[in-house]
Amino acid sequence: MDKAAAARRIEELKREIARHDYLYYVLDSPEISDEEYDALMRELRALEEAYPDLRTPDSPTQRVGGMPVDEFEHVVHEVPMLSLDNVFDLGELKSFCDRVSRALKEEVSYTAELKIDGVAVSLIYEDGVFVRGSTRGDGRVGEDVTANLRTVKSMPLRLMKPVSGRLEVRGEVYMQKKDFAELNAQREEEGEPLFANPRNAAAGSLRQLDPSITAKRHLRVFVYQAVNAVQRGLKSQYEVLQWLKGLGLPTQGTERLCDSFDELTKYIDEWREKRFALPYVTDGVVVKVDDLAKQEILGTTAKAPRWAVAFKYPAEEKRTRVKDIEISVGRTGALTPVAILEPVRLSGTIVQRASLHNEDEIRRKDVRVGDYVWVRKAGEIIPEVVRVDKEARREGSPPFEMPKECPACGSSVVRLPGEAAHRCLNRSCPAQIKEGLKHFASRSGMDIQGLGEKLIDQLVEKGFIRDIADLYTLSEEELASLERMGKKSAQNLIRALEASKNRPLANLIYALGIRYVGSRVAELLAENFGSLERLMEATEEEILQIEGIGPRIASSVVSFFRDEANRRTIERLIALGVKTRLERPALEKDVWRGLRFVFTGELERATRLEAENIVKSLGGQVSSDVSRKTSYVVVGKNPGSKLERAVNLGVKTIDEDSFWRMVEEAKEG
Ligand code: IVH
Repeated sequence: MDKAAAARRIEELKREIARHDYLYYVLDSPEISDEEYDALMRELRALEEAYPDLRTPDSPTQRVGGMPVDEFEHVVHEVPMLSLDNVFDLGELKSFCDRVSRALKEEVSYTAELKIDGVAVSLIYEDGVFVRGSTRGDGRVGEDVTANLRTVKSMPLRLMKPVSGRLEVRGEVYMQKKDFAELNAQREEEGEPLFANPRNAAAGSLRQLDPSITAKRHLRVFVYQAVNAVQRGLKSQYEVLQWLKGLGLPTQGTERLCDSFDELTKYIDEWREKRFALPYVTDGVVVKVDDLAKQEILGTTAKAPRWAVAFKYPAEEKRTRVKDIEISVGRTGALTPVAILEPVRLSGTIVQRASLHNEDEIRRKDVRVGDYVWVRKAGEIIPEVVRVDKEARREGSPPFEMPKECPACGSSVVRLPGEAAHRCLNRSCPAQIKEGLKHFASRSGMDIQGLGEKLIDQLVEKGFIRDIADLYTLSEEELASLERMGKKSAQNLIRALEASKNRPLANLIYALGIRYVGSRVAELLAENFGSLERLMEATEEEILQIEGIGPRIASSVVSFFRDEANRRTIERLIALGVKTRLERPALEKDVWRGLRFVFTGELERATRLEAENIVKSLGGQVSSDVSRKTSYVVVGKNPGSKLERAVNLGVKTIDEDSFWRMVEEAKEG
């Protein structure tokens, strides 16, 4: 393809991909499969690799995150980013509306919108192309987080309709409840501190100095304001929202024009419970004078506009009683105390249990059996005890003590130095085996359809399973003998077990239940080692070479595979037919093991993909970004910013000829 044709195709692909991003991330109604989408991205990436100067900042390939920065640049907001005054009940809202009517000497209409609990951002588009994004900061000066915002998939890098000149829009970057819960689960798995709520998670992710981390955090954005909208002929807030939506910007879509205080009340009451069913956290309703000209007349104070107010729903905290504190035993033997609560309705569901995490947490909050406590849900999902109502405590109630023996198997419990958890060290503890099996069979693991909790309990209790590998020795007759299992479901389960033997390597690594290895880390390990056999022999140093894996994980992986019992289980899994290889170019030689290559610019003697496969076939690795861990940056014609970064980091650069010479030597050597 010549350059002109490539340029045309690149434009076409960019538009097409932007449209599919919009359909997927904003409208939530994709038209094509993930595979088809990936194919479009691959084609675009290949064309941009071949013609690096055709790569522009609004290309979807640029969402992966660019260079890390040392600190954020400051951005002065042309129009200050104000905050909102809050009202906490309908009476206070009425006073606000009365104040507005008095000042304007007439009744006015309002738009009501939900208040998203996220982080305020300003987005600037020049001639329809996203050029800069910043945080609110102190309202006058914010931080430049452009590179991070580019990774937010619901944010258009180019508007769907041409808008001339400079357009500044404002909105909220947020994280969906499920993404927040998943992120925290992953952090817990990896031993990282948890985020208190989706807002903190969003703020923390947006303010990452390395945009490639932000890119993995599933942030989203809603816009709700256009700065200087009047100059563009817009007359009302309601119109602004429709206009923004028409430009392909994600608006929240629950706005309503309200002609009276009564209608505002209706909106607020309607969403009071309904909001819990939304995929993101809302903490109130923003009420805005609809007419932009009237907004200008009302003006602002130093802190907040006089034309808008935030109605805050009462914080979802309820008082209830701790009936008991139970101990659950996890798959790694960790004992987790769980508060069993008098049932209470919270953020849309009935809550009866809340994790108390570990001994230190219980001590800190001093939760005791029989206590009255305040509970809430982090991110509207995860129930937690906030504090104890000490006044209401029954006299003489003893502080909670962690048990000395495992409630599941009776072995003695230890708290190892440097750990928060108490552990049962008995590897044959039935609770650990059950939890290990659940983990093994889970979606991100071997994804064994039909192997649910009840069935696992029976299998372990009946002694059919003592070790995960036993799963693959179960017979149809054994299964059919269990409660609530007919011949048919036994056959189905055997089939599901058979199918699970071919899961991708990353799933298998995750399924093994190595401490600190969640699905993200499993993915990295699979990608870098290519087979379970190789991972089993890996040293800590080798594992530490992988970006995103630290010493705690590396040491946990190595000690897991050093363990005799674990090795035996794995040998049995392999003997029973479980696949342990990543499908990838056949390894011809292993001479480049540990070497990491990055390519930039056009190659003359092969396509990028061919060159990458050659590196892999010699045991080396290829990454898309230059870091200190990169061994060589191969510089082709018209290199991109990776060259600059390599030079800055002092990473060795070689030209194409040297690369091929190295390949020859490696093949001969
Ligand atoms: S309008 C002049 N609309 O709430 C300020 N803000 O507590 C105009 N927020 O800083 C803000 N959802 O970050 C507006 N639909 C919405 C909002 C919203 C969330 C945030 C925003 C603002 C904060 C004020």
